Amino acid sequence: KSAKIAKIRTPIVCVLGHVDHGKTSLLDRIRGSSVVSSEAGAITQHIGATLVPIEAIRAMSTSMQKIPVTVPGLLFIDTPGHHAFTTLRARGGALADMAIVVVDINEGFQPQTIEALQILRGCKTPFVVALTKIDRVHGWRVVENAPFLTTFAQQNERIQEFMETRHYEIVGKLSDLGFNCERFDRVQDFARNIAIVPISAHTGEGIADLLMVMIGLAQRYMEQSLAMSVDGPGCGTVLEVKEERGLGPTLDVILYDGTLSVGDEIMLASEDGVITTKVRSLLKPRPMKEILTEERFERVKSVVAASGVKVAAPNLDRVIAGSPLRGVRGDREAVATQIRQEMEEIHVKLVEDGLVIKADTIGALEALCQELENKEIGVMRAAVGPVSRHDLITAETIKNPLYKVVLAFNTPLLPDAADIVKETKQMKVFSGRVIYQLIDAYLLWRDQQKR
Ligand code: GTP
Ligand code: MG
Repeated sequence: KSAKIAKIRTPIVCVLGHVDHGKTSLLDRIRGSSVVSSEAGAITQHIGATLVPIEAIRAMSTSMQKIPVTVPGLLFIDTPGHHAFTTLRARGGALADMAIVVVDINEGFQPQTIEALQILRGCKTPFVVALTKIDRVHGWRVVENAPFLTTFAQQNERIQEFMETRHYEIVGKLSDLGFNCERFDRVQDFARNIAIVPISAHTGEGIADLLMVMIGLAQRYMEQSLAMSVDGPGCGTVLEVKEERGLGPTLDVILYDGTLSVGDEIMLASEDGVITTKVRSLLKPRPMKEILTEERFERVKSVVAASGVKVAAPNLDRVIAGSPLRGVRGDREAVATQIRQEMEEIHVKLVEDGLVIKADTIGALEALCQELENKEIGVMRAAVGPVSRHDLITAETIKNPLYKVVLAFNTPLLPDAADIVKETKQMKVFSGRVIYQLIDAYLLWRDQQKR
């Protein structure tokens, strides 16, 4: 059996939940960093990835040192608290092997919590609920880094009662959604019951329990799905296209299947359709480092799933963030067709009576579209990339003056487009790095126009 076990790949763990409930903080705690404090408005705008090796997890949990561990570590994916998770796809399914749904114990379930659960149910992804911010419960006595049961025993009766009440409210809500849940220490069968782990990202309480449950889940119930995936050509999803000094445009990729090596031929979706190129170099972020903010990378000859890796190759400048990446071995046309099909699944609903939106990634574009749809604001054109002259000319043709605008999320204005804005004064371009603020700025302007 040991030969088979040696082949288990790193599980991909998505961290989901409502805005501000503490997803990034949880990962910060695990990797001992502070990504939250470097984020614009402390809101995660992009999907990031961090590899946490098993040794690091072991170091955090004394009880883990006793159990035999076969997974090499966990690849955590941080997601923004808005809808972009739906774009984290792999071959039409979910990219994540497992998930952590983060719920603020003081706020309970919120719209995005429910949405995350519905997505997980749809994809049949196993998950754990992290009931976080327990240190904020009024009167909480902190026992730094303690396992949950140790710290729970230190709390007074009122707090213990409050915790139980909250816990059963959450169990009830999850039951309404069709999930069977229990506090992790009361779970008998992890295949039938979903574990709830109370934690605090600020004090470290319960974090070791959470990691233990995740590792246990991966080893017991996912050995098969994780066992086979390291041979074969590399398959991945592009998170971002980024300019790197000395390398030109590069791709941040989550490799979820197979092996990717320097010299491999790969296919990707670009603004000009499917392209073929050759991997020139592969750069890995150091373990415990978020790929989004890492500055020092290690050059490697090849990477094995699952990994976050930066790919440098010729002709990447027009690759679309969110695109599939496929290593080519054999039939090229079949691979190209697969990529085209996957791209068509990405859904942005366009209407005639609407405005123009631009964003830096497909995920962001989808998220922005979704938010606009919720506010009943139509979208007439949606594209990835900087705001161009063409976008402004398109916006100019819009009949409804309240829609004659461009919303630019996390993407700049090209110089010729900036000139047009200056000259005509009629064209309105809203730029921003926070989706909600961008939409609010537009709504404020629209209300002023109506007066
Ligand atoms: P988005 O990326 O915007 O969806 O938010 P997020 O879920 O990543 O939340 P984030 O980690 O940015 O935390 C939001 C706020 O909650 C920050 O001010 C954190 O400091 C705070 N916070 C997160 N976890 C804890 C916790 O365990 N205890 C306390 N007291 N505060 C927390
Ligand atoms: Mg975040």
